[in-house]
Amino acid sequence: MFKITLLPGDGIGPEVVNAAVKVIKLVGERFNTDFEFKTCLMGGCSYDAHGTPLTDEVLGECYSSDAVFLGAVGGYKWEDLPHQLKPEAALLKIRKALGLYANLRPAKVYEPMLSYSSLKEEILKGTDVLILRELTGGIYFGQPRGYDDGKGFNTMIYTKDEVVRIARKAFEYARVRNKKVASVDKANVLEVSQFWRKVVIEVHKDYPDVQLQHMYVDNAAMQLVRDPKQFDVVLTSNLFGDILSDIAAMITGSLGMLPSASIGSKYALYEPVHGSAPDIAGKNIANPIAAISSAAMMLKYSFQMDKAAELVEEAIENVLTKGYRTKDIYKEGDKLVSTDEMTNNIIEEFDTVCANHSLNVFTL
Ligand code: IPM
Ligand code: MN
Repeated sequence: MFKITLLPGDGIGPEVVNAAVKVIKLVGERFNTDFEFKTCLMGGCSYDAHGTPLTDEVLGECYSSDAVFLGAVGGYKWEDLPHQLKPEAALLKIRKALGLYANLRPAKVYEPMLSYSSLKEEILKGTDVLILRELTGGIYFGQPRGYDDGKGFNTMIYTKDEVVRIARKAFEYARVRNKKVASVDKANVLEVSQFWRKVVIEVHKDYPDVQLQHMYVDNAAMQLVRDPKQFDVVLTSNLFGDILSDIAAMITGSLGMLPSASIGSKYALYEPVHGSAPDIAGKNIANPIAAISSAAMMLKYSFQMDKAAELVEEAIENVLTKGYRTKDIYKEGDKLVSTDEMTNNIIEEFDTVCANHSLNVFTL
């Protein structure tokens, strides 16, 4: 039995988490696995209820579960709150508290979505990049930090242990992919980057079968849109990864399609990369694919259910091939569907692919 803490959050978060839960439940039935869910507040909704975007009780729930599944946090309503009470502060707090230092943001184009990107199809076709972003260090957390009337300042700092552990992850993921790591830094200007590069080179000695390349972040941003196929694993620090992962997301067509996993040595959290989109909340029009795909990542990385994860991805791709689109990815001629319809289509398709792979299929 696997215990999953659900943090639906704000805006469209609850709708897309709902969609993911439906899929996970079906996977449980088909793969004879029990999943237990516990729903908790995080973000603006937690602030409204408790005066803080993340309570210790909720953190406690996360510590005692096998995986955490997050929707999205934030909204106009909470924008003017002081920094530490904003919904986004809860995100940073939970990452740090659970030690989620490795953020995986895979940018892979679904075949039927090739013509939906702002990039040309021939540039995109075959793109399969894993942005591996360091998530609990760097300038996001470095001290000293602050501002007064005359200045504002932050500190970009990495310790050796922090770089070693994320570099190891990069080489390990590359090993089971296309055996290439591009480590992104700004070593021509920043000492912290010179240090990062030195440590990555040291760690690489243990992975001679993986090819290592270093790239300055400005060049990496350009290369990602010029020729994304050249990349396999992109290893980056917290801030650079934040920026590069948005670029990588967009090359795949829509931010509404991108899943993520944040993994530490003990805990893991899964969430769609998109935000809370308060303008379309509650309208049953949000795209549930990023959330469902994040659920597939959870099956793979937290529960070692690789086959189930593969079949969920296959179901998503088939539904897209059949022309179903939520509003954010709709083009004339497509079949426009709601959040619920898209989810139900994926669920039905999942049963079909299970049958095709001759797994036990019972009637729903
Ligand atoms: C992300 C977001 C967050 C980040 C914000 C909301 C704190 O942009 O997950 O990429 O900067 O890490
Ligand atoms: Mn971001």
